[in-house]
Order: sequence, then structure tokens, then C-alpha cells
Amino acid sequence: MELVTTIDDLREVLREHRRVASSIGLVPTMGALHAGHRSLIDRARAIDDVVAVSIFVNPWQFNDASDFALYPRSLDADLAVADTSGVDIVFAPTVAEMYPASEPLVRVDPGVLGSRLEGASRPGHFVGVATVVAKLFAIFEADRAYFGEKDYEQLALVRRLALDLSFGVEVVACPTVREVDGLALSSRNARLSVEQRAAAPVLYRSLVAGRDLLESGVAVTAVNTEMRAVISGEPSAVVAYAAGRDAVTLEEPSAASSLLRLLVAATFGEIRLIDNLGVEIQPGPG
Ligand code: PAJ
Repeated sequence: MELVTTIDDLREVLREHRRVASSIGLVPTMGALHAGHRSLIDRARAIDDVVAVSIFVNPWQFNDASDFALYPRSLDADLAVADTSGVDIVFAPTVAEMYPASEPLVRVDPGVLGSRLEGASRPGHFVGVATVVAKLFAIFEADRAYFGEKDYEQLALVRRLALDLSFGVEVVACPTVREVDGLALSSRNARLSVEQRAAAPVLYRSLVAGRDLLESGVAVTAVNTEMRAVISGEPSAVVAYAAGRDAVTLEEPSAASSLLRLLVAATFGEIRLIDNLGVEIQPGPG
């Protein structure tokens, strides 16, 4: 496995690989690698000849300075995980390497995809995500890039980014990996206290309750209210949103919507967690 820290070196390493390999798969991450990230790497390993992982805690997608400062960083452990997972290249640049002019003047506008749910709660977040992912796509020119459904709005945004800016990369969606109690794996889980960790699976429970109600014919607005009530049942949880959306457009569902996505977010103390679940329903009449 090769560890590369500069864009020039990375381009050189990729050029060498392209001479002998037919496809390159990219797994973008912010590090603190866990089984969720590993599932993306495994998927890439099964499909592509060369698997590259980027590890970069992108300052411009954090709307909260303390969240950025406290985000877990564990490069040595991450390199060990990447190595045992069969990764060929790890790209771990510094902030100065990725943003030589300090704050980027030119950024990617995510349009309406930047201002819903997560975007409404975290102003500027998806501009930062779209900009750094565009940079990674431009630097790697990978054949495929692997993203988790765990960050469902991000996945939708990245798909449109690849399409709208013609990156020529295939975006591969990978299912959410969970703990046995349903909590979606997240690098932020490491920051939960014992009590917060015990409370956090309420997010998944709210989604399952919401799915069951939708499948039994309950209307989306009532389902949203119920999911919010389930989360609020945990005294340490403060709900940010609980919403059923059309799984494709992420708009409020229409009568024709048959694939829905339930999306929830809540804070436990200072730690903000998100989760989502897909539900298939019979479209309503008309
Ligand atoms: P990060 O949170 O490190 O996640 C990297 C990738 O792993 C994302 O595609 C995310 O959806 C996926 N992932 C995280 N937890 C997962 C889980 N429990 N199951 C399946 N996949 C999971 O998302 C980012 O970093 C950044 O925004 C990034 C795209 C790297 C841009 O900075």
C-alpha cells in the first residue's frame, strides 16, 4: 500500500497504476475508519483493479468550528485498517495541500440540494462537501467512487455533481452498516458518552416505527410527527428534523411517490447524528 500526501505525487502514482490496471475505484473519507468505511472499501475491492482511499477532514464542510476541532483523527490506525482491507493507495493531504490559497474563492453550488434537511440545519455544509468531492473527482479521475447511503442527501448531491459537471465517474451507493442495536456506524459515535451511546439507537427505532406506519397506510405527515415523538422520548436527544421524502427527488412526497426515504437527525449533547431508511409504498390514487 502506498501513502501519498501531495496531489502531484498522487497523479504520478495513479499514472503508473493506469499503465497496468484497467479501473480505479475511489473511496472518499474523513478518516477514523470503521466497518462502514470498510464496507465501501470491500465493495470497491470486489469491482475495481486499484482501490484508493482519501483521508481528509475537510474544514470547509464544518459549519461548527468545535465540531471540526473535535472530529476524531487517527491516521496511524486508519493506515492499518486500509492496509488490512487491501487498499492500494491512501491519499492523506494536509489542508494547505488541498487548499493552497487558504479559503477557496471558487466553490461548487449544490443548488437546492444544499438547502434541505441537513443543509438547512448546517448552512454551507453541502457547498463544502460538493467542493471537496469535485476536487477529489478532478484529482483522481477514478472510474468509480463509492459513497454510503448513511449520508443519503450527500449521496444524492454527489450523484448530481458527477452528472452535472461531467466527471465521468460512476457513483456507487453502499448500504448503511449498523451496530447490533441499530445505531448507524459513524466516526462521531466515538465522542458519545456511555449514556448518549445508550440513547442513540432511538434514531433507528424512530425510522423503523416510521416505516411500519407508512407500510400500514399512515400518511407521511403523521409519520413525521410519530418519528419526532419517538426520538423526543429519549431525554438526552434533541430532534433537528424527522421527515419522509421522495427517495429520488428528496422533495415532499407526491401522490405518485412509491419509494420514500425517512431521514432523521438529532443532537445528543454536542454530538449530532443522522440516519435514514428507505420504504417502498403503494402510490396513492391520482
Ligand atoms: P465520512 O463521514 O468519513 O464518510 C465517508 C464515506 O463513508 C461516506 O460515503 C459515508 O456515507 C460512508 N459511511 C459512513 N458511515 C457509514 C455506515 N455506517 N455505513 C455505510 N457507509 C458509511 O462523508 C464524508 O466522510 C465526507 O463528507 C466526504 C464525502 C469524504 C467529503 O469530505
